[in-house]
Amino acid sequence: MSFIASKCPDIRVDVVDINPERIAQWNSDVLPIYEPKLDDIVKKARNRNLFFSTNAPEAIKNADIIFISVNTPTKTYGVGAGKATDLSYVESCARLIVEHSTSDKIVVEKSTIPVRTSDAIKSILSTAKKKCKFDVLSNPEFLAEGTAVDDLENPDRVLIGGEDSPAGQKAIQTLANIYATWIDRKKIITTNLWSSELSKLIANAFLAQRISSINSMSALCEVTSADIDEVSKAVGADTRIGSKFLKSSVGFGGSCFQKDVLSLSYLCEYYGLHEVAAYWKSVIDINNYQKNRFAKNVATSLYSTLREKRLAIFGFAFKEDTNDTRETPAKDVCKYFLEEKAKLAIYDPKVEPEKIYRDLDLPQGSDQIEICTDPYQAAQDASAIVILTGWKSFKELDYQKIYNSMLNPAWLFDGRNITDHAALRKIGFRLRAIGKPALD
Ligand code: UGA
Repeated sequence: MSFIASKCPDIRVDVVDINPERIAQWNSDVLPIYEPKLDDIVKKARNRNLFFSTNAPEAIKNADIIFISVNTPTKTYGVGAGKATDLSYVESCARLIVEHSTSDKIVVEKSTIPVRTSDAIKSILSTAKKKCKFDVLSNPEFLAEGTAVDDLENPDRVLIGGEDSPAGQKAIQTLANIYATWIDRKKIITTNLWSSELSKLIANAFLAQRISSINSMSALCEVTSADIDEVSKAVGADTRIGSKFLKSSVGFGGSCFQKDVLSLSYLCEYYGLHEVAAYWKSVIDINNYQKNRFAKNVATSLYSTLREKRLAIFGFAFKEDTNDTRETPAKDVCKYFLEEKAKLAIYDPKVEPEKIYRDLDLPQGSDQIEICTDPYQAAQDASAIVILTGWKSFKELDYQKIYNSMLNPAWLFDGRNITDHAALRKIGFRLRAIGKPALD
């Protein structure tokens, strides 16, 4: 929304949230999320045509277009628990819109939702007592964290789904005109509502599937002495396959992939497509396998006991250039180590300590882990370094200095394949990396 405000100074954008603390952060100098280039975008437009407030009724009353951008987590209760999408926030949002609308609106689903959710939204909106007309559109977001601003500036495509009626088509054009301010119209794809809703889930499922595919092959590489990066390069050079999203890792994380693949799989089950559901569910199974396999490999390499051993954890965010830890592989891997009674010294350049304690189900300030302010402190007297996030800064550390401060033998487990493995071995590290042969 901030990006739209920055690109379209003539459009007033009101961002509303029921959480006053969040809104206060959006109005402050320290935004609630770390995202490269976002600070400048927000500062440029804030209080010009971009406003953050908790006054949803007022914003709804004045708006011509309303974007529903609420959380759609995996259900944790009742039917479909652990698989289906929890639509309760979407529903409350639609009810709020009905309650406070006094004029016609275009209502845009921005949150990722299962196919046919717009039916539910339309049904709630149709209960409006005042004579307001609502056109519902689906406009899923494809940006990735860490590169959000560049993705918005130059997206592969913008997708807008709407009803095949004159009013629906007019609503699609109204929204398309906003994006066309800075995006080539050829990149704006328009579809029916269901195709748009489903395309977002499928796009994320395909991306997640590529990572699980390459990660499953990393296991095969390790036992055959093939090198996963060489394999990725050779396979991805085929233009029909493509080179992106073939980087093997400790596993994918983030708020979307797992939730969306589970939601897609549940949807297939709901429609009786059990084989299809099982196929997509296996993408998650492989991801869990990969996280577990990596953690187990650390324990086995360290002579099958982690008890009282200090492990320096480099990175806790689910990927580089973000402070987001939702579904981060670091959470599962660290929990594994804690169960094995290891002592963890955790360093991440952007993740706040409170999040780390919360993610590991530890009381704030618990002495079961040490949160470090730099990687050298974390590595001091450690038996091993475990790299869990691909922060660029981890490539540039003085590993000789780090090696000298660690216990001997000093181990390094690269869960992101970002360090110079040959140079580390030369220093004396015992090195294990995803999809790479163990050379010692
Ligand atoms: C993902 C999609 O890439 C976006 O298109 C989508 O809009 C977004 O979800 C969403 O639905 O909100 P995001 O989760 O922010 O974006 O970040 P990604 O770059 O996709 O990374 C996801 C995870 O996969 C990270 O843990 C990353 O480290 C991992 N990954 C990514 C790999 O392990 N290997 C790769 O080759 C690429």
